[in-house]
Amino acid sequence: MSQHQPTTQRRQFLKYLAASPLLTSYSAFAQEVEEALGERLTEPGEVINVFEMEALAREKLPPAHFGYLATGVDSDETLRANREGFSRFQIKPRRLVDVSEIDTSINLLGTGAGSPIVLCPVGSQGAYHADAELGSARAAAAKGHHMILSTQASTPVEAVAEARGAPIWHQLYATNRWENTVQMLQRAEAAGCTAVCLTVDLPGGRNTETQARMTRSDTRTCTACHTGQPKPMLEGLDMRGASLNNPAMTWKVIGRMKEVTSMQVVIKGIEVGFDAAMAVQSGADAIVVSNHGGRAVETGRGSIECLPEVAAAVNGRIPVLIDGGFRRGTDVFKALALGASAVGIGRPYCFGLGAFGQAGVERVLDLLNRELAIAMRGSGTTSIAAIGPDYVHDRGRRV
Ligand SMILES: Cc1cc2nc3c(=O)[nH]c(=O)nc-3n(C[C@H](O)[C@H](O)[C@H](O)COP(=O)(O)O)c2cc1C
Repeated sequence: MSQHQPTTQRRQFLKYLAASPLLTSYSAFAQEVEEALGERLTEPGEVINVFEMEALAREKLPPAHFGYLATGVDSDETLRANREGFSRFQIKPRRLVDVSEIDTSINLLGTGAGSPIVLCPVGSQGAYHADAELGSARAAAAKGHHMILSTQASTPVEAVAEARGAPIWHQLYATNRWENTVQMLQRAEAAGCTAVCLTVDLPGGRNTETQARMTRSDTRTCTACHTGQPKPMLEGLDMRGASLNNPAMTWKVIGRMKEVTSMQVVIKGIEVGFDAAMAVQSGADAIVVSNHGGRAVETGRGSIECLPEVAAAVNGRIPVLIDGGFRRGTDVFKALALGASAVGIGRPYCFGLGAFGQAGVERVLDLLNRELAIAMRGSGTTSIAAIGPDYVHDRGRRV
């Protein structure tokens, strides 16, 4: 029997592993799950966790496209730290609380959602499935999730906002030409976006080696798809000589944006308390603790490890969102306990998109919501607001 045709027994064992709280090593686990896929999973409902969905997406997507999705930077140390960081924090459950009814709904800057799990901006979703951002938006609508759309989306913001059927936020890479920035802000606002999420962690360049390696192994001819057409958000803009990176950007940008838009301003890419305080002082309406999913500077520090100092600096004045490495409902629970108002996911829903289109995104959201509900009930919490610092223990630096 080949390595890719595991016995039913082995598959059952791997399913047991998938559910096992004993297993914390992400890479070892992902490898095990990948091996299990010799016996094909053909329905989204058969997939039992995000790791299996990742393995399916890896199988289905061209290597170059999966490489773009999976990559971190340099040696992928920050990417791994995003997972490993969770082991530093442990859940402290309370008993004999009536948890027969739990409420997972939130309200973020006036936008209600049924779950605290937010779809983060991920560019180029057409590379994962023909459903692209419309599939993600429809899944978000079906499952009651808030969504942030990338500047680099494959689908126009107007169509995505319509598919979501409720206010979305628009992620912005502020260009180094202010008139282009203003045009994008005006377009997003006209499409009904209620907030702009300015990403500040990529002032110039990054070294995505995993992507480069996987692209090298891809033997397809890519020119037919990669025609050099601008992304929909950039269509009609005169971007000649301009760049989406603006290395000269400073905190003044928040005030400048507020002069030209009435959307609320969210700053994405905060990692330290000092910057969190600067964001509040500069007029930000919310922040996102994020290292871009380990795709910006190789800090080696997991996103969850940044949250305590950021939450302390903000001290409840504005909502604090976080993303990076969230793959389990318990991860979400820990972040909420450490002071996050909501939790973003990037790759997980795109694994679902790559594996099954919209239905795969829905499955990922179902899985994470179910796991979160189990964590809430098991810990004696009945609402998102009830999940506070008493429910988490920080054992210090991870070993
Ligand atoms: C393939 C890919 C594309 C991304 N594109 C963007 C983007 O266009 N704008 C942005 O602000 N963040 C982008 N991100 C970062 C995500 O918004 C988010 O911060 C990150 O994916 C969270 O980590 P996770 O993937 O471990 O959940 C991207 C991430 C990935 C994986």
